[in-house]
Amino acid sequence: MAKLSFIGAGRMAGAIVRGLIRSGACVPSDIKIIGGANHSAKDLAKETGVIIATSAEDLFAGADAVVVACKPQQFPMLNESYGKLSKEKLVLSVLAGKRLATLTQFFNSARNVVRTMPNTPGAIGKGVTALCSAKTLTTGDRSIVEAICNGLGTTLEIPENMFDAVTAVSGSGPGFFFETISAYEEAAVELGFTPAQAQLLVRQTFLGSLALLQSTQETPENLRNQVTSPGGTTKAGLDALTKNQFRETIKAALLAAKNRSEELGK
Ligand SMILES: NC(=O)c1ccc[n+]([C@@H]2O[C@H](COP(=O)([O-])OP(=O)(O)OC[C@H]3O[C@@H](n4cnc5c(N)ncnc54)[C@H](OP(=O)(O)O)[C@@H]3O)[C@@H](O)[C@H]2O)c1
Repeated sequence: MAKLSFIGAGRMAGAIVRGLIRSGACVPSDIKIIGGANHSAKDLAKETGVIIATSAEDLFAGADAVVVACKPQQFPMLNESYGKLSKEKLVLSVLAGKRLATLTQFFNSARNVVRTMPNTPGAIGKGVTALCSAKTLTTGDRSIVEAICNGLGTTLEIPENMFDAVTAVSGSGPGFFFETISAYEEAAVELGFTPAQAQLLVRQTFLGSLALLQSTQETPENLRNQVTSPGGTTKAGLDALTKNQFRETIKAALLAAKNRSEELGK
């Protein structure tokens, strides 16, 4: 069982810690955390039983891997000694936009550095985390990385040059999904349903449709065609979506998010 240390004890660190304990990959005493000036580390330790490190040295002592989970803008303010203390450690970052080059420059004596992009459904173990590493992962390090990420859901290893794209697709994806649900519920209310009725109808329709898609080998296009008869109601709605450039709108949203990720990474 790996011993892990966390720089940062906020939402993302909390989701990973809970996942590690839930899956049995770690017991609370395997995990040390350190926070910033507020009380997140105290709160997480109280909730989960993990240990608060008493110093930078204590945080790194005995750790197999170190998870960096502060905000990207807090990264330049991190204790400088972390660089040296990470000697021969595996470092895994969840920081949006912080490239492997920047991370390896700071953690310059680490045995390997992993960059990840989790997403918010990870908080309930249903997320998808993209990852890449500075050097090829050894079998041992891969199992540590998987233990850390599996509590958040599924993982996908991709080259670093796809990180701006993955930030758009799965990082920002929950935001696009919630906006879609919100627009759909608003439209249902405009058709005359109460907000509660709209919520039930819309959420169950999306939940059920995704479950149906995942239960078959069918493509989404095939399932769409199965509910679309010529001259029917779904066809009328789909024609309105096409006329209003639905697919182009989705592409524009993903491209805008990817471009913004590129700008923020500069
Ligand atoms: N939330 C998400 O869904 C999500 C999704 C993808 C990626 N991420 C990435 O996850 C990272 C963390 O996000 P979050 O939402 O978990 O943020 P958060 O809840 O604000 O947590 C940030 C943590 O960093 C700690 N911290 C601040 N300065 C520090 C320092 N100098 N040394 C050590 N710890 C320090 C904070 O401690 P105090 O608050 O106690 O001062 C807090 O525990 C970000 O880099 C973000 O890009 C988040």
